[in-house]
Amino acid sequence: MQILKTVNEMRAVSRTARGEGERLGFVPTMGALHEGHLSLVRAAKLQSDAVIVSIFVNPRQFGPNEDFAKYPRTFENDCGLLEKEGVDFIFAPPVEAMYPAGAVTYVSVEGLSGKLCGKSRPGHFRGVTTVVATLFHIVEPDVAFFGQKDAAQVAIVRRMVKDLNHPVEIVACPIVREPDGLAMSSRNGYLSAKERKWALALYRSLMQVQELFQGGEDSAIRLIEAGKRVLAAQPEVKVDYLEIVDPETLDARGSVAGPALVAVAAYVGTTRLIDNIVLTPE
Ligand code: PAJ
Repeated sequence: MQILKTVNEMRAVSRTARGEGERLGFVPTMGALHEGHLSLVRAAKLQSDAVIVSIFVNPRQFGPNEDFAKYPRTFENDCGLLEKEGVDFIFAPPVEAMYPAGAVTYVSVEGLSGKLCGKSRPGHFRGVTTVVATLFHIVEPDVAFFGQKDAAQVAIVRRMVKDLNHPVEIVACPIVREPDGLAMSSRNGYLSAKERKWALALYRSLMQVQELFQGGEDSAIRLIEAGKRVLAAQPEVKVDYLEIVDPETLDARGSVAGPALVAVAAYVGTTRLIDNIVLTPE
């Protein structure tokens, strides 16, 4: 496994591999890796000849009052995990390599970027699409792997790839959860033991929505109300949103007539957590 820190090194390696006819699989991450990330790496191993994982805590996707400074950075440990998975290359550039001094260029997916987390995290998705577009440009992968955990991110990246004609296939992988249902996240480490228990309310609310849906309820308003009641029963958890939307456009859905994304975001203490499920009518 090779660790690359400069754009030139990364490009050279990628071009050589592609020149040899290899299909390049790419997994962009911000490090602090857990089983959720590793599931993407395993999918990439199965579907590509060489796997590149980027580790870059992207300052542009954090708001001024968000956790950029305290975001967990566990580079040595991450490298050990990726080595064990048989990853070929890690791309870990310093901030100056990704954003040259004075950089003022952004990639923004209009409309979609203001939905779900985009409402309470202005600029977040613009930061994500800017870094993902830049990474695609440097790494030149054939296929890139994203987690369904960040369902809006998947929709927005897919839209960007389509709009900008990026020659990259986007693969979305299922959410990996702790045994009790909590979606794995690098931010779970912020939670105290008590908060960790309260955080389960997110998953419980989604399970309640799913149960009602399976019982025949398809009105989005009623499903959302039921989910919110579960969240309200855990008053320590402050809901940001619980919405039922079209998985591609992220527009609110009145009923679950086709596949619908049920997405929730809530604060547990100062930690913001997200989770989702997809409901599919038979
Ligand atoms: P990060 O939060 O590190 O996540 C990297 C990838 O891992 C994302 O595609 C995310 O959806 C996926 N992931 C995280 N937790 C997961 C889980 N429990 N199950 C399955 N997949 C999971 O998402 C980002 O970084 C950044 O926005 C990035 C795309 C790297 C751009 O900076």
